[in-house]
Amino acid sequence: MTARKKLFVKTYGCQMNVYDSERMAEALGASGYDQVAAPEDADMILLNTCHIREKAAEKVYSELGRLKPLREANPDLKIGVAGCVAQAEGEEIMRRQPMVDLVVGPQTYHRLPRMMEAVGRGEKALDTDFPEEDKFAHLPKARLPKRGPTAFLTVQEGCDKFCSFCVVPYTRGAEVSRPVDRLLREARELVERGVREITLLGQNVNAYHGSGLDGAEWGLAQLIWEMAEIDGLDRIRFTTSHPNDMDDALIEAHGTCDKLMPYLHLPVQAGSDRILKAMNRKHTAESYVRLIERIRAARPDLVLSGDFIVGFPGETEEDFQATLDLVAEVGYGTAYSFKYSARPGTPASERAMVDPAEADDRLQRLQALLTEQQRATQDAMVGRTVKVLFEKPGRMDGQITGKSDYLHAVHVDGPADLIGEIAPVEIVESRPNSLAGRLVG
Ligand code: SAH
Ligand code: SF4
Ligand code: F3S
Repeated sequence: MTARKKLFVKTYGCQMNVYDSERMAEALGASGYDQVAAPEDADMILLNTCHIREKAAEKVYSELGRLKPLREANPDLKIGVAGCVAQAEGEEIMRRQPMVDLVVGPQTYHRLPRMMEAVGRGEKALDTDFPEEDKFAHLPKARLPKRGPTAFLTVQEGCDKFCSFCVVPYTRGAEVSRPVDRLLREARELVERGVREITLLGQNVNAYHGSGLDGAEWGLAQLIWEMAEIDGLDRIRFTTSHPNDMDDALIEAHGTCDKLMPYLHLPVQAGSDRILKAMNRKHTAESYVRLIERIRAARPDLVLSGDFIVGFPGETEEDFQATLDLVAEVGYGTAYSFKYSARPGTPASERAMVDPAEADDRLQRLQALLTEQQRATQDAMVGRTVKVLFEKPGRMDGQITGKSDYLHAVHVDGPADLIGEIAPVEIVESRPNSLAGRLVG
């Protein structure tokens, strides 16, 4: 028997990359690799990358630069680039950084073990196809160790929306939904391994339309109801959604499915209809606000989250004001806001940019408002008793930390054997990015 080798994986970007990194580590586990926590200890380093904004993509090259001394010290060290930069740049990565041995796109990593064999023979390996087969179906099943109480589960891949600023339809390809039976099997396995909360993932997760148990096509709401039947699975979340795919069944589930958590990430990007049109979002500010009203009617205590882009080409001060107005009207519990970044190959990248200083200023103003709303949402939790799923020890001795139903991070003084359990907590203090509480009863 040959000795097992050591794998270090670094993940950038969205939760789908987190999920993919776990699957890649499993696939390589079956070919003799165990994961390690430090790149210095590794025989193989895999960067799972993100191409969404310029800064995200550039991080890959600076990280590769930092890895150079490791490679020089150990010529047998293998270095691979996976994910969305791999898909977008392909061979260019090896040209810019010749020490890279392997480039694998987000849809072909089930071919990793075979690619690693080539790399082992001293060859370079590159695969950025969009194959017909389901990458998840081909992954070898590794041994299944116990794991933490929360997990991601990708149910849908790719995106057909083509927002004019976004690389995802190009890096991840067309929308594909995984069949319900496979997802249920995977969810049950996760629960057997100790998972109590599953977040269903997709670039457009609410556009899910997989083959159902009865052979008909099922939407996301139907999938959620079926998952809710799994004993031992206590919480279900999903992300990310597009406003146009929030159908009636899904809205209703927020009010009637106890296991579906009262938190929703529903990006709108901008508040000006002129900009929304230029973004190819195919909805208006008004239709979004009405939609939020309907969802809140189903689940009044829902905490809402969103994504915003400022400085989209052509955005005027008046357009930006419309974004601030929309935020003021809707009220977000938390939100992510970004300065527009021109991405190669996208339609918007051909249009004139807003003055960068102006865009910076808008980002600051938007973030000030969003921070205020986040603060207010958290402050309103003080005095309430919420359920917390404890995930890990806290930073202080004797502390444990987890997430409330509303996805707030909550710390309490409590015994470590509560990790993996759900317990009621009275919130006593609101801090900048978390809540402090005490165990009830
Ligand atoms: N599929 C998800 C999110 C995809 S990317 C959705 O549609 O909601 C996550 C966020 O990154 C987007 O919602 C958007 O706010 C931001 N983003 C995407 N492309 C961007 C770009 N070119 N510049 C700045 N932000 C961008
Ligand atoms: Fe990108 Fe738009 Fe698709 Fe989201 S819906 S992944 S922002 S193209
Ligand atoms: Fe980034 Fe790719 Fe996710 S571009 S946001 S890692 S789908």
